[in-house]
Amino acid sequence: MNEAHDNMDSGRHRRRARYSGSHPRRFDQRYKELNAERYPEMQEHIRTKGRTPAGTHVPVLVQEVLGILNPDRGHVVCDCTIGYAGHAIEFLKQIGPSGRLIGFDVDSANLERARHRLMAAGKAFGWEPNISLYRRNYAGVAEILAREGLDGVDILFADVGVSSMQVDDPARGFSYKHPDSPLDMRMDDRIKRSAADLLRTISQAKLSRALWELSDEPDHEQISQCIVEQRQFQPIARTRDLILLIFQAKGITEKQWQKRTERGALHPAARTFQALRILVNDELSALRHLLRMAPTALRSDGRLGIISFHSGEDRLVKKALHEGYHSGIYAATSPHIIQAGAKEVSDNPRSSSARFRWARRA
Ligand SMILES: C[S@@+](CC[C@H](N)C(=O)[O-])C[C@H]1O[C@@H](n2cnc3c(N)ncnc32)[C@H](O)[C@@H]1O
Repeated sequence: MNEAHDNMDSGRHRRRARYSGSHPRRFDQRYKELNAERYPEMQEHIRTKGRTPAGTHVPVLVQEVLGILNPDRGHVVCDCTIGYAGHAIEFLKQIGPSGRLIGFDVDSANLERARHRLMAAGKAFGWEPNISLYRRNYAGVAEILAREGLDGVDILFADVGVSSMQVDDPARGFSYKHPDSPLDMRMDDRIKRSAADLLRTISQAKLSRALWELSDEPDHEQISQCIVEQRQFQPIARTRDLILLIFQAKGITEKQWQKRTERGALHPAARTFQALRILVNDELSALRHLLRMAPTALRSDGRLGIISFHSGEDRLVKKALHEGYHSGIYAATSPHIIQAGAKEVSDNPRSSSARFRWARRA
């Protein structure tokens, strides 16, 4: 395996954290879930309950992606968001020992896990996979393909956004579900500005616009005003600080919301957390860049596939693919978005917002 990445941790077994009681509750106590390869039966048990075991990620729309992108023996595949390697392992199986897989991820921990899983998959298939992994932003895809001596790839794939491993880890501060976490949200720890840093300096107008454009938050004006007023007295440094402010801006208490709301309803803080994450990681710029570079990165007849998770991203993808089709760059493109069916959504509720689009290079 060709390793072209930063120095990363080895995949050591995590020691069981001490806890009182018979059931682990905190993320770091879930040592069986966090060691997926050692405890497959535990993973299976949790999956049957429709949950994603901590420290893993369930790939979405796998059959749809494989059916449309059609990886085949000897193909060169570039997976721009390798994550837990869920899609990548499926690609690897199809392209075989004569194929080549280039993978990107900005998160060193995810890249490390993916590397172990890909190597284990190669072993299980009985051949040495030809893989190069990069801890890079996929916006730099053209430069890396040139470095790899490739004039293009057969499949360019991205499953954009965060992985379950990132969202579920309380130390990363991605989720309102972990109310006592640092407000960090960086997928790439080389990024200088965390979400807490951003909330210290961003203007009210810019924040309000971001909440509207990146997550359709209807109370964007009130929330941005509350944040800007509050930060004069106290920094908004932890997830709890932000959650309380959002409730205040919406004029309800957490208790009232819990009483009034049906199970499964969107949490009042969900949209704000999403918009902040997209801002911190500059996710739309990376996606725009990828969409611009895709035609040069694809060989003739090569396929581009993108899974996105909210309407702002999907609009960018749709526009780029349709424009490419009408200008003759792409010979075909998805006539409509492809979404998870009822069975997949019930097995993996996180698939419910996934939207897949594709295009075929002329
Ligand atoms: C939704 S997950 C991908 C999951 C993967 N398809 C799987 O099946 O396991 C997205 C991954 O992309 C990474 N990522 C997000 N934006 C990125 C970017 N601009 N460049 C490189 N990696 C990125 C995240 O760190 C995360 O690990």
